[in-house]
Amino acid sequence: MITIENVNHRYISEGRGETVALKDVNLTIADNEFVTVIGPSGCGKTTLMRAVGGLVLPTSGTVDIDGARVTGPHQKSAIVFQNFALLPWETVEKNVAFGLELAGVPKAERMAKARAYIEKVGLTGFEQKYPRELSGGMQQRVGLARALAVESPILLMDEPFGALDQQTRRYMQEELLDIWQQDRRTVVFVTHDMEEAVLLGDRIVLMSARPGKIEEVIDVDLPRPRSAARAEASPELTRLKEYLWERLRDMHEKAAV
Ligand SMILES: Nc1ncnc2c1ncn2[C@@H]1O[C@H](COP(=O)(O)OP(=O)(O)O)[C@@H](O)[C@H]1O
Ligand SMILES: [Mg+2]
Repeated sequence: MITIENVNHRYISEGRGETVALKDVNLTIADNEFVTVIGPSGCGKTTLMRAVGGLVLPTSGTVDIDGARVTGPHQKSAIVFQNFALLPWETVEKNVAFGLELAGVPKAERMAKARAYIEKVGLTGFEQKYPRELSGGMQQRVGLARALAVESPILLMDEPFGALDQQTRRYMQEELLDIWQQDRRTVVFVTHDMEEAVLLGDRIVLMSARPGKIEEVIDVDLPRPRSAARAEASPELTRLKEYLWERLRDMHEKAAV
């Protein structure tokens, strides 16, 4: 369980002064829950995710994972980045094994695990390719396999499909749903795509900017296992998308005045 209590975060930067990125954030995420986070640009989504990963230490408040305080980077979570963050000079196989290498897993074991997760994301046959030889979607499969391979209970995904074209994004959503449905983890998934937030999440955390705070947490009442094709036809998806759109538009209008 992830427990975020009274978290505030302020960035101090030269020139721009102080930015309140998170204001009084409280949120509890259950084991194996899939939570999506949506909100306008600059509302603190990345900061919140990084606080869970221990990459940002909040100015005040606390983050606990299974009762243990987060005080820095830790092995309980792995991150999938929007820009893939692959090592360009390493093969697919080495990139996937990289997180395991950092964790001190012996070579034979990390190669076996890397191969298993390469298969899971559908990249068998591409083990010896370099990132530049792959499409964006394939590169993000590598990013996903690398994060899955460390087998941490929490997966943090920061707009992971944001750089992909719409069709590739759809394939990746289907694939992630499949993988998660077989191999459940706790997922915190940041997105700015309303449909994606509904399609993937058990709950949607809606945030607003300046200061970055949680406006509302919305339950998604779509049955699992889910698939994009099935969900698309569902009135619940349409209803929630419209609702999110209205809320985000109101925020945008308020921010403009
Ligand atoms: N390292 C930083 N230094 C100063 N300000 C930052 C830094 N990182 C983020 N911010 C500011 O904090 C706010 C929240 O940023 P972020 O968490 O990246 O939002 P989001 O991911 O929702 O777009 C923004 O106003 C952003 O400009
Ligand atoms: Mg961000």
